[in-house]
Amino acid sequence: MSSIFEIVHKDAAGRIGRLTTPHGVVETPTVMPVINPNIQLIRPEEMRSFGAEVLITNSYIIYRRDELRERALKDGLHALLGFDGPIMTDSGSFQLSVYGEVEVTNEQIIEFQQKIGSDIGVPLDIPTPPDVLRSRAESELATTMERLAEARKIVTDGMLLAGPVQGSTYQDLREQCASTLSELDFDIYPLGAVVPLMESYRYADLVDVIVSSKKGLSPTAPVHLFGAGHPMMFALAVALGCDLFDSAAYALYAKDSRYITSNGTYHLENLHYLPCSCPVCSSHTAEELKSADNCEELLARHNLYVTFEEMRLVKQSIKDGNLLELVEQRCRAHPRLLEGLKQAYTYSDWLERYDPISKSTFFYCGPESANRPEVLRFSNRMDRLTITGSAIIRATETKDDSEFDNVLVFKPPFGAFPVELGEVYPFNAEVVRNPDHEALEQALQNTIKLIEQNPEADFTFVNEERFKHPLIESLAGIANVVEYER
Ligand code: GUN
Ligand code: ZN
Repeated sequence: MSSIFEIVHKDAAGRIGRLTTPHGVVETPTVMPVINPNIQLIRPEEMRSFGAEVLITNSYIIYRRDELRERALKDGLHALLGFDGPIMTDSGSFQLSVYGEVEVTNEQIIEFQQKIGSDIGVPLDIPTPPDVLRSRAESELATTMERLAEARKIVTDGMLLAGPVQGSTYQDLREQCASTLSELDFDIYPLGAVVPLMESYRYADLVDVIVSSKKGLSPTAPVHLFGAGHPMMFALAVALGCDLFDSAAYALYAKDSRYITSNGTYHLENLHYLPCSCPVCSSHTAEELKSADNCEELLARHNLYVTFEEMRLVKQSIKDGNLLELVEQRCRAHPRLLEGLKQAYTYSDWLERYDPISKSTFFYCGPESANRPEVLRFSNRMDRLTITGSAIIRATETKDDSEFDNVLVFKPPFGAFPVELGEVYPFNAEVVRNPDHEALEQALQNTIKLIEQNPEADFTFVNEERFKHPLIESLAGIANVVEYER
């Protein structure tokens, strides 16, 4: 693998990276505005002022129209669009998935992308939709793999080459595809055919696709979530290791009078106020926006502003080490996103491998936080703690602490840990005083595990009114449970 991608900061499985392309270095995670070569509400060069560092367009649309094709071949893609930064080109696969066929071969479209000077080219993969029969997913994947291998032979230098991961909703096919593509050594790995999942709010299934694909890839490979442009899911997708996004949403939503926010979408009709301070929203009232002649363009501008604003916040959260807090906030915007969050934490054992050992204070944001990778890490490493003699496990300091050989703090969702670790990440977490069922359950399970791992020690657990849970009874079978007294 060439070193075109350098990771400079990490949080969860998310990262800030530097991607080197023939037209310059791009900081990731980032979103590539989709440029339609036929219709441009906003000029490509102006995209920089919103925060865009790289654009994406469709080479098949250019190839198909004589006038565009001739200009692109003569002057190059960058002159055609009027943008001198990096440009990624898609191949017509999307048209293939919508219309069932395209008038170009894989070899022709790859060579065309190279000739017009694309920075990142994409072969003619087959975007197999979710839930198809396994036999179809397998046979289309076989064709995709042949085309990708062919493209990899054609492109030997200059243009970066993307190898889209397909496999429908079959996790083993996604992982297998990703690992075979890794061996072929692509520069960027888009996760394909996820648009139908996002359109129908199937975020839990999207999480499965992302994680299974990531498992087959090298952790240092840049990953593009194809067709993902709504800012409300950036935090989640970045936390799972996606680096590149593309947004046609800014324009498609504007065309449909929809106003994007990082928590969802409004129909312009229903907006009485503009809950945003971008240049569009601070210079118009909701009524003015609705009646503006250039309403579609203004909406597209607003949509782009909030899209890049959210990506900057995601990057800041990676630097601050609180990306998972942002993910948990964002995923409360819609119950289907919450399903995505819950699904993501079923992969905490995988996330834990990439999550930094120490970062800024862990904030407990609700029952899902009980399944964060940090909590699982503590549970997995508990066998490193050896306790001998007498031990008191208490949440609140007691006057009897000094009578015990060991003082352990009980803090949901973690459980019991030596008091000396109280200021160390993640035990210095900010948590709610009255734990919810999930936090308490996790903490009590971990406490029981710790006691069982240290059968020689003699444990006293100081119970409190706020720790009501059926597992307290199990605890009473292996420890001396006493009630807290002030
Ligand atoms: N755009 C959205 N999804 C896809 C995909 O799976 N493959 C390609 N090439 N482009 C896409
Ligand atoms: Zn705005």
